[in-house]
Amino acid sequence: MQNSIFISFEGIDGAGKSSHIQAVANAFRSQGKTVVQTREPGGTALAEKLRDLVLHDAMDPLCEALLVFAARRDHLQQVIEPALARGDIVLCDRFTDATFAYQGGGRGFDLQVLTQLEQWVQALPAGGLRQPLLTLWFELDPSVAAQRLAQARVPDRFESQPQAFFRQVHDAYAARAQADTKRFARIAADATMESVRHAVLTTLHDRGLLPAEAK
Ligand code: TYD
Repeated sequence: MQNSIFISFEGIDGAGKSSHIQAVANAFRSQGKTVVQTREPGGTALAEKLRDLVLHDAMDPLCEALLVFAARRDHLQQVIEPALARGDIVLCDRFTDATFAYQGGGRGFDLQVLTQLEQWVQALPAGGLRQPLLTLWFELDPSVAAQRLAQARVPDRFESQPQAFFRQVHDAYAARAQADTKRFARIAADATMESVRHAVLTTLHDRGLLPAEAK
């Protein structure tokens, strides 16, 4: 078993990822691990303020991209890096793949600019980029997600987008997953809560991150 582990959870709105983060946290805690559960945009006082702006205020795509990366920078410095240095398990509800999916795919914003921002924001002092060890991508067809969201709360700036937007977000996630099959694990999210939970914990076991009995 490894010490510190960084796992991100991704998917279009309505894919149901948030419900499974708790199950993963419980599985690691039952192994005696310290778990930091966090989210993006957000995770620090400053980043939560930026989240509020991004989710509710009108702005152009570059502004949106800069704000999510500004939030990410603060989150990495204040929460994620210190937790990983302590040897904790970091479970993050969305990370940079969401920017490539929503700002890149959904908004059609320049992927080269996003790649440059990723390089600046996630640079490690010793070289290389901070990325999750594992990204669980909850894949759900946008038409199914739309049905789920219709029953949900008051939509934010993203949740209120048409299905075509989520098709683009979905396809951008698929492209990111295909470009890094080592980091990504695809979880078929069009299934019962219990079977999705089982698939998530099996993935963690298969990747050597949790012992079999933790399932
Ligand atoms: P979400 O994670 O779905 O939280 P909740 O379950 O509370 O609604 O909401 C965050 C929204 O922010 C989601 O619609 C995706 C969007 N987002 C971006 O557009 N870019 C990003 O880089 C991130 C991290 C999120």
